[in-house]
Amino acid sequence: MRDPEIFETVERLLETGLPVWLSFRRCRHGVCGVFGQHWGPPEGDLFGRAAGRFEEMGVGALAINCLPVDHVPGMISWLRDFTDLPLGVYPNLGHMAGSRWRFDEKIDPAAYAELGLAWREEGAQIIGGCCGVTPEHIAALATTVADTKPGRKRPPLDERLLGLEPDASPAEPWSDEQGRVVFPLPFPKLMVDEGVFVPTTGSYLVWKTLFDGTLGREQACLDVGCGCGILSVQLALNGAARVHAIDIDESAVANTLANGFRNGVADRLTGETVDLYQWEPTERFDLIAASLYQMPVDPYEEPSGHRPLDYWGRNLLDHFIRLLPRLLTEDGIAYVMQLSILGQTQTGRLLAAGGLKAKVVDFSFFPFGPFFMQNKGQIDRVEQLSDAYHLRFADEDVMVAYLLEVTRSSSNPDEGVTHDSDRSA
Ligand SMILES: C[S@@+](CC[C@H](N)C(=O)[O-])C[C@H]1O[C@@H](n2cnc3c(N)ncnc32)[C@H](O)[C@@H]1O
Repeated sequence: MRDPEIFETVERLLETGLPVWLSFRRCRHGVCGVFGQHWGPPEGDLFGRAAGRFEEMGVGALAINCLPVDHVPGMISWLRDFTDLPLGVYPNLGHMAGSRWRFDEKIDPAAYAELGLAWREEGAQIIGGCCGVTPEHIAALATTVADTKPGRKRPPLDERLLGLEPDASPAEPWSDEQGRVVFPLPFPKLMVDEGVFVPTTGSYLVWKTLFDGTLGREQACLDVGCGCGILSVQLALNGAARVHAIDIDESAVANTLANGFRNGVADRLTGETVDLYQWEPTERFDLIAASLYQMPVDPYEEPSGHRPLDYWGRNLLDHFIRLLPRLLTEDGIAYVMQLSILGQTQTGRLLAAGGLKAKVVDFSFFPFGPFFMQNKGQIDRVEQLSDAYHLRFADEDVMVAYLLEVTRSSSNPDEGVTHDSDRSA
């Protein structure tokens, strides 16, 4: 209807001198698929106005066809407001599903005839059937409407609107096990400043666990490599006593603090620009969240030196794990994201050496973005030389992002354990 060519085409057809009747697969919501799927945006009166124009051009009749029967009510009476043309309807009772037909078996000839009667009462002057409508349906229809005249009835509003209007939405909003409404998701209000790391699947994986709502409550929390502050802000929203956000990037720290302000939790958020490798922690934390860079880089393909040389891709993660015994309180928990392109064995070794243990509390699939593809050769090398891996589906490479919950190992109660006397947090 938006395309002027349709009117030019109808013009050409009319020039033949033959009677021209037009039929469209359209309902009140616009273009409509054979099983009622709505293909386009709401169109207002576009089709109705086009109907008026077809009449002026000399078209002989207008119909709707090959749409499911429940999309018919309201169409004829609505079109009647725009045109005096004879109006028709011939919906379907089936459609192709893949290479097979799927028919609506519930509507038998008698039921179809009843529907036809309703279309007639609404004003249909031409009634028939499209795909899946059998000769028996048509015969029953013909008998039923034989002595009737087209009416001017308007079906009730709910029938005309097909239950798609906002007031027909489910009475109960979607909520999670805790009864929190999750549609829309109560995601923190976050802005990502230019140059600051934009959250990815790994960030969302950690966030999802923190969104549990109670993690960090009344606790001292640390966000290592805070980026825009997605994790810091959620912890503060959970009711953390305080959250310390650190990042090597000054803008990331500023961004985190600004996002804290946006979410009304700035009073419990502190930030520090610091290189984790240089950091000398002076306090301990009950909950630590870390979603850090993990990218194997081939030292021979990185002559410019603008990316940190990191053969196994795990330098920062390993350094963080080594720091953990000094960072965690006695019952502290760390949530650490690790990609599968880094091995499990080395992580396990380092954790054990620090008197720590880990369990997987969640995982998700992490696509190979362009940056990972650039380093694909080195990733393959690391996978050959260790237990690192990724999955491959058709031509797509996919990593698994694991969320580890790290705590002190009970089998090693004394190793790296904090005692009240040496706690500074
Ligand atoms: C993968 S991003 C994660 C950001 C954020 N936590 C998230 O989930 O969206 C890693 C962050 O670590 C920071 N980072 C990188 N190297 C660092 C280092 N040596 N010390 C501290 N932070 C570092 C980066 O600036 C970046 O913001």
